[in-house]
Amino acid sequence: MCCQDPSEDGRRLSARPIALAVAIVAIGVGAARAASASPGHDGRVISSIFNPASTPAASIHQLSLLVISICAGIFVVVGGLLAYTIVRFRWRGENRQEPPQVYGSYPIELAWTVVPLMIVFILFLATTRTIGELDKTSAPPHALQVTVVGHQWWWEFRYPSLGITTANELHVPVSTPADPRPTFLTLESADVVHSFWVPRLAGKTDMIPNRINHMWIEPWKSGTYLGQCAEFCGTQHAHMLLRVVAQSPADFAQWAAAQQRPAVADPRVAAGRRLFQSTACVNCHAVGGTAAQGSFGPDLTHLMDRVTIGAGAARNTAQNLRLWVADPQQLKPGCRMPAMQLSATQVDEMVAYLLTLK
Ligand code: CUA
Repeated sequence: MCCQDPSEDGRRLSARPIALAVAIVAIGVGAARAASASPGHDGRVISSIFNPASTPAASIHQLSLLVISICAGIFVVVGGLLAYTIVRFRWRGENRQEPPQVYGSYPIELAWTVVPLMIVFILFLATTRTIGELDKTSAPPHALQVTVVGHQWWWEFRYPSLGITTANELHVPVSTPADPRPTFLTLESADVVHSFWVPRLAGKTDMIPNRINHMWIEPWKSGTYLGQCAEFCGTQHAHMLLRVVAQSPADFAQWAAAQQRPAVADPRVAAGRRLFQSTACVNCHAVGGTAAQGSFGPDLTHLMDRVTIGAGAARNTAQNLRLWVADPQQLKPGCRMPAMQLSATQVDEMVAYLLTLK
């Protein structure tokens, strides 16, 4: 058996790298599918650019599938040729000769110049078209306008037409072809560069001090869409999370009406309210209908409407509020809110007051 045909041996070996390439592509596709469909721990679908739920995200998704498939094609062709060449022309002892060397072949040189140029041109056209669709500097018709201000480390949402200011949870109406209601966002920063990103709704847009950027979203289905700051902005960049709550137009109107009301003034928590209004809390926080009109920290008028505190640092529960009021640095080290040095009784009074801000 000393004289086995080496070319047959080469064919058998070259199947392995191709199988490997196919396996890598299959794993990639499988992971993308899993990421696009698996529900999160509390029933929410996790964020994924492969599961768009809004027009801009869908355009970006389509474009990325085109780019990924073209790149995958190039990878398979180049990788396949490379694997074939490595195996077919590998060293087989002294008596084998070099393969024929080709110099100055016009057809080959023309082919490897024209084909890449065409691929780049197709990608250029597709990208330009998508950017043209997404990049709006003025609000589309029927749009709800929201000003988003990035702060270290939370999000401020202002609805100028509705007179609402809230934080970290952006409520918007659902948009359908029969009743289009896009939301047009004006993005600003109060301090450093942040980036607004809700993967299922749109791409990322930076929020730059002294500059105004715009983007728009148009969720098709009601639900909660998770996002985060996508530009490193300091110690608590990782705890600069946001939620977009898309609601039916009726639910959104109801939410907006509730937000427009001033804060509840419950006589049972008068001690906590007095404490709040007599400490430095009012320098940073606003509570609608009271003397507290600070704007450095989140507006607390309807604090209990929100699911989290500290821009996603913790769930908004009585226990976490107690921890937060006693010393915010425990839940969010480095955050801008200092511990107010309150006694245990004062913390209880303060939290009882905050719990009434529905
Ligand atoms: Cu804000 Cu990162």
